[in-house]
Amino acid sequence: MKPLTRIFPDVSSLAAAFASRLCDRIAERPRVTIALSGGSTPQWLFRCLAQDYPEKIDWGKVHLFWGDERCVPPEDPESNFRMARELLLRHIRIPSENIHRILGEAEPAGEAERYAEEIREFVDQSAGWPEFDLIILGLGEDGHTASIFPNQMELLQTNAICAVASHPGSGQKRITLTGPVLNQAREVAFLVTGATKADVVQQVLNRKGNWQDLPAAHINPSEGKLLWYLDAQAAGSIIAGGN
Ligand code: 6PG
Repeated sequence: MKPLTRIFPDVSSLAAAFASRLCDRIAERPRVTIALSGGSTPQWLFRCLAQDYPEKIDWGKVHLFWGDERCVPPEDPESNFRMARELLLRHIRIPSENIHRILGEAEPAGEAERYAEEIREFVDQSAGWPEFDLIILGLGEDGHTASIFPNQMELLQTNAICAVASHPGSGQKRITLTGPVLNQAREVAFLVTGATKADVVQQVLNRKGNWQDLPAAHINPSEGKLLWYLDAQAAGSIIAGGN
């Protein structure tokens, strides 16, 4: 499906627009499963949700997962869970049983299997794969998304729901959702900001250069919607549009 691309003057207006859309989507369903992205970009969304949506969203309907997690303890500054807890989770009334943390402190291979089981238990299935209502993703300058890096393209085509990945630079172990899970979601939303991402956004969205070698270019839900929310710096010459 052709992505819906929306471009915003700045990260604050992007976060506000996405938060509003998220509120509307959650209101439509009795129960919602969402996988959060890591990295720094989601912090703007988390702050906006914590500030403006603690009451507007019925968080009791929402089950939160993570698209990936660094294999570090939850108190580690690198932890994606820690960022979400500090900026969002402690500011909303969400039942603790609705927070499905990847245990970054656990042995990676075992945790990948355990988390896959937790996803099977709580997330709807479709075509034999978990079908998240929404998966929020970031984009690395090297074209990675979640923790699917260009040197591990096999994670785009695997039978596993979760996998152990390694950051190509630091070697840091990560647990990540795999390509088939990302592409089974009812909605996938890339949130991308900053001038440093403009080149990779062009390659992915306009199929330029070595786009086939970029994991993010292979994320396009088979049945679901694909959204790209960009700030003007990341969008460069990309034109908003799509259905
Ligand atoms: C992570 C993320 C990763 C991130 C991108 C973009 O754990 O780091 O899941 O995929 O989304 O690297 O990161 P920024 O938002 O910090 O640019």
